[in-house]
Amino acid sequence: MLFSRSFTLAFAASAFASLPGFGSSDGFVKMEFDILKDLGLSTSLNDFITSLLPENLSARDNSGSAPLINERTFYVSKLSIGNPASEVEVLLDTGSSDLWVMSSRNPQCKDNGGSIDCEQYGTYNETASTTFKNNHTNFYIQYLDKTYANGTWGTDQIALTDSLKLKDASFAVAEDSDSNVGVFGIGFIELESGLEKYINVPALMKQQGLINKVAYSLYLGSMESNKGNILFGGVDHAKYSGDLKEIDISLQDGKYPYLQIPLTQISVQKESSSSKAFDAKDSKFSSLFNKRSGDNQSINTNSAPALLDSGTTLSLLPDDIMKLVVEAIDHEAAYNTAAGGYIVNCTLALPLNSVTFTFDGEKDIVVPMTDLIISLGNSGTGGQQCMLGLVPGSMLILGDNFLRSAYSVFNLDDKTISIAQVKYSDDQDIQVIS
Ligand SMILES: *[C@@H]1O[C@H](CO)[C@@H](O)[C@H](O)[C@H]1NC(C)=O
Ligand SMILES: *[C@@H]1O[C@H](CO)[C@@H](O)[C@H](O)[C@H]1NC(C)=O
Ligand SMILES: *[C@@H]1O[C@H](CO)[C@@H](O)[C@H](O)[C@H]1NC(C)=O
Ligand SMILES: *[C@@H]1O[C@H](CO)[C@@H](O)[C@H](O)[C@H]1NC(C)=O
Ligand SMILES: *[C@@H]1O[C@H](CO)[C@@H](O)[C@H](O)[C@H]1NC(C)=O
Ligand SMILES: *[C@@H]1O[C@H](CO)[C@@H](O)[C@H](O)[C@H]1NC(C)=O
Repeated sequence: MLFSRSFTLAFAASAFASLPGFGSSDGFVKMEFDILKDLGLSTSLNDFITSLLPENLSARDNSGSAPLINERTFYVSKLSIGNPASEVEVLLDTGSSDLWVMSSRNPQCKDNGGSIDCEQYGTYNETASTTFKNNHTNFYIQYLDKTYANGTWGTDQIALTDSLKLKDASFAVAEDSDSNVGVFGIGFIELESGLEKYINVPALMKQQGLINKVAYSLYLGSMESNKGNILFGGVDHAKYSGDLKEIDISLQDGKYPYLQIPLTQISVQKESSSSKAFDAKDSKFSSLFNKRSGDNQSINTNSAPALLDSGTTLSLLPDDIMKLVVEAIDHEAAYNTAAGGYIVNCTLALPLNSVTFTFDGEKDIVVPMTDLIISLGNSGTGGQQCMLGLVPGSMLILGDNFLRSAYSVFNLDDKTISIAQVKYSDDQDIQVIS
């Protein structure tokens, strides 16, 4: 979920000093996350995708587009906060930088007479925690989808895993929010919502000695899987194939607010006939494609910075690029305002059809078309309707439907993102990033 604002204050890196760890780590912290699909998220979160349409389409005009909800995925990780601890699940978000959790006092929660089921992901009772310190500074954030959270900043201890705890971690407690799930923003400090910058959770993990670099690797798992993980401070070499290519993060107005890298081209591969069986487990994309005889059309994207955003379900392309890509995928595709995207021919979802994203002039990530075609169910006349998971947006954002095909290592200290074609695997070969 992208949070955007103008950037005024530079972050003082010298504020970081190393402190002894609170709990010992092996130099990395692995957090499993749950993959949630259509689990009754709040109305505003349900409207999320449609709200990201070009400015002249009002988000609320499109709120009738319910079928998409089934395809939405949210990556949620568990945190234990306070003493005694409250267990909360929070949406893991590379597109924002603040952690906030739902207060049990939020008047919009069912327990307090509102309509939101806050118990589903858990709430935090700051009054009950003996270690919570309110710093009496107001917190307010609103995401591009208009979801907001209003509350207070404070600090408490946060257990990331059963054995690894951070002490005095800054986070906000939302005493009023229309979302039913808190957000764990893990982006750059530059993107924090407040003007006064602070050491956010990924940076604090380094300061307290749990990791050596503010860096983490994201493995979302396949569409079918319900397991994925984020590895703070480490990289798992068993989870990708080919080279892990290191790419410099793109600057924005001389600063590093966004986890974005230059996208050189998008090419669309369509198989004329399905010839070969596709084995996603082995991720033999490149070797297969070299032997194929399909159509391959490329669209130059002029090294536009592409934000890699785990908090966004679909991917967003600016209008000019979007038009060329959709033309290459299905020249008969039609934009549908109610669906908030392009209706495409469902037969495109063939195993060997794919869209390749080329970064920094050389690194290809192949996304199977099956991951980009969303079934909307049957239309009134009985035929199946499908929508493209690439939708028009005001920014270039590659969300979960792209990230599932990539293994990505975000190194915020070195200002690089390394990416490789994912290999879905339960094997593990973890190296500490130093
Ligand atoms: C705005 O809407 C008009 C017509 O409704 C459409 O032609 C135009 O492409 C839209 N603009 C954008 C930026 O989508
Ligand atoms: C929060 O904790 C306080 C102190 O333990 C307790 O009195 C209160 O009922 C709790 N509130 C909720 C909503 O659970
Ligand atoms: C947030 O809540 C505070 C305290 O209730 C209130 O004064 C403030 O106006 C709210 N801010 C926004 C932007 O709603
Ligand atoms: C309270 O904490 C937030 C987040 O760490 C920080 O931005 C703010 O400056 C703090 N306020 C005070 C008064 O220290
Ligand atoms: C498609 O064409 C582009 C540009 O010529 C090339 O970079 C890419 O490797 C091709 N992809 C496949 C799968 O052949
Ligand atoms: C979808 O594509 C298939 C194969 O090219 C074609 O036979 C079919 O008529 C198309 N369906 C629609 C609704 O255009």
